[in-house]
Amino acid sequence: MIGIDRRAYPADRSAILIVPAMSEQATKVGISVSQLRCIGCGRIALADRFRCEYCRDLLEIIYAGWDDGNSGELAPSKLKQLWRDRRESLDPADQSGVWRFREILPEISHEQIITIREGNTPIYELPHCAKSAGVKHVFAKHQGMNPTGSFKDAGMTVAASFARQAGYKWVACASTGNTSASMAAYAARGGLHSLVLIPDGKISWSKLSQSLDYGAITCQLKTDFDGCVRVLNEVVERMPVYLLNSVNPYRVEGQKTAAFELLEQLNWEPPDHIIVPGGNLANSSAIGKALREMKQLGFISHLPKISVIQAEGANPLVRAVRETRGEKLIPVHADTMATAIRIGNPASWKKAVRVIQETSGTVDEVSEVEIAIAKAEIGAEGIGCEPASAVTLAGLKKLVKRGFVKPNELVVLVLTGHLLKDSEFTLKFHRGDLFTGTAHEGEGALSKAQQRAPLVLEPNVNAVVDLLRSAEN
Ligand code: F0G
Repeated sequence: MIGIDRRAYPADRSAILIVPAMSEQATKVGISVSQLRCIGCGRIALADRFRCEYCRDLLEIIYAGWDDGNSGELAPSKLKQLWRDRRESLDPADQSGVWRFREILPEISHEQIITIREGNTPIYELPHCAKSAGVKHVFAKHQGMNPTGSFKDAGMTVAASFARQAGYKWVACASTGNTSASMAAYAARGGLHSLVLIPDGKISWSKLSQSLDYGAITCQLKTDFDGCVRVLNEVVERMPVYLLNSVNPYRVEGQKTAAFELLEQLNWEPPDHIIVPGGNLANSSAIGKALREMKQLGFISHLPKISVIQAEGANPLVRAVRETRGEKLIPVHADTMATAIRIGNPASWKKAVRVIQETSGTVDEVSEVEIAIAKAEIGAEGIGCEPASAVTLAGLKKLVKRGFVKPNELVVLVLTGHLLKDSEFTLKFHRGDLFTGTAHEGEGALSKAQQRAPLVLEPNVNAVVDLLRSAEN
């Protein structure tokens, strides 16, 4: 039995609305006051809920006045300068690439912020990938350069800080590995206990090792990710545990900052396209929300197209858009080697559909071999990423072929996880046995050109020199 301290659970959960200290701070620095609103019926909900009590739709955070273009003191020119200046500060919150944008985040009092200096991730140009896709300029916003190696940290810092401020002692998530690694780290830094539910045998060892090392109680359930979510949803109903899956609207707020930072890095000139991998579909929703808000606040005058790419074996959004025009989700039994996005019943699909429609973006799906080739191409630029991130480049190639992305357009790929998140995939690929014994074995031969198997030689100078000579020719 896990020892949960019920005394720490706020007796009256309706009491968690806005902490007075936060609203004081809000008026001082021009932060807007936030509320939770149902994306379906528009009703306002209590601050620690995840679904609408009336229609069960997801919730999103809204800020007073922003919808009507009435954003008070949030003048873009002032904020751009303030956000840049904070990078010079010694305050941990200012050094965070999430909290330096705190004017566009929910109010959390300074002393409750749990930060591992997330965000501030680089943007890299990928000229060889651009050539292989058939466009002039491709950039990668590398969210895998976060402290735990994935984009999850940007959302986790906000949601974990909210959990601590609201008085929770326990946090929990179901995960394909990155959320759990991130949650475990932030919980540990914030003095919270964490519970992780992961599908047994279906996440990478590196991600599993992270949650163990960061001290989470880690349970491998004999089911898939969607099964873990079902179990966890019941656990949080019965126990005083705060859910940190991406249905948590505070996670989405933190993840928005990646898009603010991207635009800052592009000198506030929107690219033509942003391409995002799709799993549970919170990240595409967060990036879309950020851009919508940037437009409302006057940072940008138009929206880039946001497109979501899924693996062929885990394509519920692609099917929903193609077969029902985004009206209805068609859950699938998910299967892909890009284990991070092995999700058949994504929670945030409605939010993602809204983003795609609002930005005139699109969806597409890519095969296992296309993912592996794209991953190796990103690696060969000296950058690297995990398989789920590589769907973006594989998808871009398809979108160029479809004529959806034009050769002279500027494209940003959101790379969500670090190369070292799934070394087994990478090693198997380069050794040439990733597809052995799978249904993709024949098509796998197409990836030969990208494979760089390690060479076993005698410990002999001539053998190495001969090899170098033959490599030069
Ligand atoms: N890329 C990586 C590396 C991921 O870990 C995930 C999701 C995604 C893309 C998809 O993002 O769910 O917001 O559409 N990983 C989750 C997890 C589900 O549990 O780590 P999404």
